[in-house]
Amino acid sequence: MKKLLFITICLAAACSLHAKKAEPSIDVIPQPESISIQKGTFKVKGAGFNYDSTLDPATVQFIAKLADDIYVGCGRPSSLAEAAGVNSGTPIEALKGVYFFKDATMEPEEYKIEINNRAAKIVASDHNGFLYAIFTFRQLLPVELWTGKTAAAVNWSIPCCVIKDKPRFKYRGLELDCARHFYNVDQVKRLLDLAAMYKLNRFHWHLTEDQGWRIEIKKYPALTEVGAFRSGTQQTYDKTKNDGKRYGGYYTQDQIREVVAYAADLGITVIPELDLPGHMLAAMASYPWLGCTGGPYQVWTRWGVSDQVLCVGKESTFKFLFDVLDEMCELFPSEYIHIGGDECPKTEWSKCPACQAKIAELGLKDGDGATKEQRLQNYVTKRVQDYLAGKGRKVIGWDEILEGELSEGATVMSWRGTKGGIKAANAGFDVIMTPTTYCYLDYKQGTRPEDDAMGAGYPSKSNYDARNLYGFEPLEGLSNAAAAHIMGVQGNMWTEYIRNDTELYYMLIPRLQALSEVQWCQPKARNYGRFESKMLRHEKIMDTLGYNYRPISE
Ligand code: ACM
Ligand code: ZN
Repeated sequence: MKKLLFITICLAAACSLHAKKAEPSIDVIPQPESISIQKGTFKVKGAGFNYDSTLDPATVQFIAKLADDIYVGCGRPSSLAEAAGVNSGTPIEALKGVYFFKDATMEPEEYKIEINNRAAKIVASDHNGFLYAIFTFRQLLPVELWTGKTAAAVNWSIPCCVIKDKPRFKYRGLELDCARHFYNVDQVKRLLDLAAMYKLNRFHWHLTEDQGWRIEIKKYPALTEVGAFRSGTQQTYDKTKNDGKRYGGYYTQDQIREVVAYAADLGITVIPELDLPGHMLAAMASYPWLGCTGGPYQVWTRWGVSDQVLCVGKESTFKFLFDVLDEMCELFPSEYIHIGGDECPKTEWSKCPACQAKIAELGLKDGDGATKEQRLQNYVTKRVQDYLAGKGRKVIGWDEILEGELSEGATVMSWRGTKGGIKAANAGFDVIMTPTTYCYLDYKQGTRPEDDAMGAGYPSKSNYDARNLYGFEPLEGLSNAAAAHIMGVQGNMWTEYIRNDTELYYMLIPRLQALSEVQWCQPKARNYGRFESKMLRHEKIMDTLGYNYRPISE
């Protein structure tokens, strides 16, 4: 018995020794490029916050928010002031408190955090770099930071460390389909808050669809009077039934400006999508002359791909598209406009006298792997691309735009696997990878009861869960030259079966966090086991912030 007690005491001592030696964990998502943990901790309670006078007001706003949240959390005031007599060249040993310095030699979005037991020194060259340093810094602090309440008993200190970090890909996107189901401005902002926290920097806003038109266009008021509403919504996987309830909504131009500005503060560029020439039934219901037959058309109440598409044999259709794009370009300052191009059946074009006359006029022929109707879509893409180029904008299109001949300068969003993206990159086009099998966030994640509940996603044969997404390597199968054309990766949240925030965040989290590591981290910084354990802490953050999620483990 004595011997047993002795062994137990030895074991306990060994365990506590081990516990003392264990490195403090740093559960940052996405995983920074390098973290070196040092001895000691930095207490943030009562720390003074200081920033370069050259920082822009949007950056200072985020520093002030950090200082304020720490003040509230610790229950001890933190000061906020412009730094005097020190700069990015000042060694950390000469500092006391938290300092944000501009270092113009750093790359866009790059940042460095140095922490000793008296100071935290944060350097970056641009707004996104500082923002990402702040988001990382916040993740080093106790979860109570996010509660907005004082938690004086909590240990408000950070392990001394040096973190160096920068993104692998410059385009880190998330798409939200606000047409199948409508998400209002506050809901969109809440999503942007979360995306920014995980260092995503593009929001692809899917605004037009067969099932609803969601953006106010002053020149064409019927788009929102008629096209923004449908008479019912398919509720199950049975396409022949809908609930018969009027459903809809749209964003006014003022609301769009509000979202664009809000996103910009979060380091996110909003890229609007005008999906053409397919997926246009809501516009055609509003203005039947846009279609090959002249209608009448109805805003669709079911999901799927409609044969009814824009008539591109008529000049009036192009005038409409250019007018809409004029207003969109006024609202969205982004370099890129997404022009859709996916799932455009050619059944109507093959019967339409105007479309056939256009094919004859252009001398389009079948052959070399494309039909004359596919080439008619190339003509549409090119005209829209040229029009936007005249306004200083570039186009992104779904990978169908590659069928036939694509004009130089277009960017391809590869969704039907990575094949299209690889082909495009080899041909010298820029590419964004968003293959269905990894990046479709509307697909079911597994076989838990919640996964099978209607509203929890599109049916899929596989488990498209966070682990699956995490395994995506965007540059696989590419030469170095072709890999240079991969701008980045995007997750797509289509919303046929995702009707509200509860469903949205169940589908999004933890896949969003997995996506962020695919977008941000070099392959050597990725480790699913570590990601899974970091997610346990991030689930607590999600609880605090009130986002629903699918637990990483059950
Ligand atoms: C798509 O999923 N139709 C791009
Ligand atoms: Zn036509």
